[in-house]
Amino acid sequence: MRVPFKKNIIVFILCLNITCILAQNKIPKIQVEKGEATTAFIEAKIDSIIAVLTLEEKVAMTHAQSKFSTKGVARLGIPEVWMSDGPHGVREEISWDAWENAGWSNDSITAFPALTCLAATFNPELANKYGYNLGEEARYREKDVLLGPGVNIYRTPFNGRNFEYLGEDPFLASTMVVPYIKGIQENGIAACVKHFALNNQEHWRDKINVEVSDRALHEIYLPAFKAAVQKGNVWALMGAYNKFRGQYTTHNKILHKILKTDWGFDGVVISDWSSVHSTKEAALYGVDMEMGTGTDGLGTTTSNHYEHYYLATPFLKAIKNGELSEDLVNDKVRRILRLIYRTNLNPDRGLGKLNTKQHHKVAREVAAEGIVLLKNQDNFFPIQDKEGITIAVIGENATRNMTQGGGSSQLKPLFEISPLQGLKERYKHAKIIHTMGYESGPSVYDATIPAALNQDSLYVKAIEVAKKADIVLFAGGLNKSYHQDSEGDDRENFALPYGQEKLINSIYEVNKNLGFLLLTGNAVGMNWLPKTKGVIQTWYLGSMAGYAIADVVSGDVNPSGKLPFSFPKELNDNAAHSFGEISYPGNGVDQEYKEDIFVGYRWFDTKKIEPQYAFGYGLSYSNFTISDVKINQAKFNKNDKIKVTFNVTNTGDREGAEVVQVYVGKPKSKVKRALKELKGFAKISLDKGTEKTASVTINASDLAYYNTEISDWSLEKGTYYLYVGNASNNIKKKIKFIIY
Ligand code: GLC
Repeated sequence: MRVPFKKNIIVFILCLNITCILAQNKIPKIQVEKGEATTAFIEAKIDSIIAVLTLEEKVAMTHAQSKFSTKGVARLGIPEVWMSDGPHGVREEISWDAWENAGWSNDSITAFPALTCLAATFNPELANKYGYNLGEEARYREKDVLLGPGVNIYRTPFNGRNFEYLGEDPFLASTMVVPYIKGIQENGIAACVKHFALNNQEHWRDKINVEVSDRALHEIYLPAFKAAVQKGNVWALMGAYNKFRGQYTTHNKILHKILKTDWGFDGVVISDWSSVHSTKEAALYGVDMEMGTGTDGLGTTTSNHYEHYYLATPFLKAIKNGELSEDLVNDKVRRILRLIYRTNLNPDRGLGKLNTKQHHKVAREVAAEGIVLLKNQDNFFPIQDKEGITIAVIGENATRNMTQGGGSSQLKPLFEISPLQGLKERYKHAKIIHTMGYESGPSVYDATIPAALNQDSLYVKAIEVAKKADIVLFAGGLNKSYHQDSEGDDRENFALPYGQEKLINSIYEVNKNLGFLLLTGNAVGMNWLPKTKGVIQTWYLGSMAGYAIADVVSGDVNPSGKLPFSFPKELNDNAAHSFGEISYPGNGVDQEYKEDIFVGYRWFDTKKIEPQYAFGYGLSYSNFTISDVKINQAKFNKNDKIKVTFNVTNTGDREGAEVVQVYVGKPKSKVKRALKELKGFAKISLDKGTEKTASVTINASDLAYYNTEISDWSLEKGTYYLYVGNASNNIKKKIKFIIY
């Protein structure tokens, strides 16, 4: 029977509506209301979304669509995921598909101190404030993932990226990274702990195959990642470029099992840019988001460029032909959707803030508290602001921009207060004069471009200026140029570059009142040390650098920073540099961490080598005593807590803070061990002439070593010692105890 045309249309519209209603019921409501966002509710919602996603949509979510974003699913209202560097500030907007800035005018931010400075504060509460304020800026810049923190252990003073990381000790790095991550993620921004794992140098980073023992892997190189995952609940993690035991770390079978099976990581593994090299391995060994892959020009436009990624068309084809299971892409999408519900679709996240006074205050606070006073002969520091005195500030680092360069962590701050500006603003009575002294060269990317100014004239001028001054402050060190403190390659000399040593020696000849502001993210050769009366390690401090440096130089702030890594007297005193090329930098293919667990002070202690400056060392304008050190009992089992109590007295004439460090060692052991290892610390602030009783609590189970015979941790019974002091080489009290 022919249905009249009009009725036909009505029937068609009715069918369409029913289909839509049915389909509507199948397509889940993506949004989550406040209070609904319980884990169970989210997981159920994820299940319902995966059920209606096409295979093409799922695969598309697992790789980049641009330099710093991945696809969403528009038809379902699933948003894209946007990410940005970096660990100490939100990077300027990068072009959609090119390594160049997008030229925005609203992406200037607060540059916080580099993380080596944060580690030097030994202040976990401050790490949380740092993370929270940085996370506010990432939120305001509408990012979902902030590509930081970096926690790779400081193994060699040559590593170009040490300035971005938290030093040589796994306990310090673990203790500082957790509150930093929590602070960031309180904003509904995912932190992304990196680079997992064993990326401890930049030279040959994209190919070097690291061989290291299981003990050193688990006791030295993984703990900060494990803490980030299990204590920090980090929502994202970045794979590294290098190989481990012959397989790329970004999709490494061993590391994948440790991360997702053993540790229970439920977040997203983001590759480093171009660190994926195999569809099958990326699919099987845990890559959830493939970023930055070079497709050798296969992509002719920004649209189809990304179709050639390992987790793009090749992955889709492998699933369709049954070579790879669809379960693999489902797990990746589940993790990505979980990330989206923790960030973009999180109903509880704020709107963020940018360049606020609070952000500047925190940046200055971290900077001033992380600065380390290394030498202070004749109370050279603090320098009084007195009429009639002339202070000569000499050195390129007095004015050099230190937020540009250094690689992916470079920033475009709203402002950057230079050391010279900070000192000029603080010293109203003393006369500040300045000359450059030396010039490193105009480019942070190409060290071969010669300096523009005549080095001899700079040198001569510097001596002249030094002669006229009562006090000389030399602002030198390294910088963010290639082969200095920069990503992409390593330093090639341990000594200060750009003729600084010769200049310092010559300045000393005309003015003995010489102090050094050492702007570096690494240890450097210090043959020039006897020519100085005072040395301040000032790190890379970001937007508020000059103010923080002036705070400490003037005495407005009493320095309380402690070194997060050792300064060797000679490069070959360092563990990694004690075993020839195969140990560092490797032979171009393989590298062996022959020092094993003896990294940093562990090496100096055990080999009885005196460092120039030790891990945990830092002076104050005050003096402190540590006394009456006690332990709560003499014998402990694995479930007990070891409580160390002590008194700290400020015997100086001003307020200050001391970091009491508690190390533990086991002299007689069935396995090789370092003399002692940091297992706790407490930063105690004290007014002048006052005393406080404080304590550090250590879980006895945390004294276990990684037992390679059982591939798990073992707590050895027997005699141990506590070492309590204010530096790894300045122990005030040693107490014996038993584990039974
Ligand atoms: C770089 C870095 C990584 C950074 C990424 C994106 O190669 O290794 O730390 O987050 O690429 O810029």
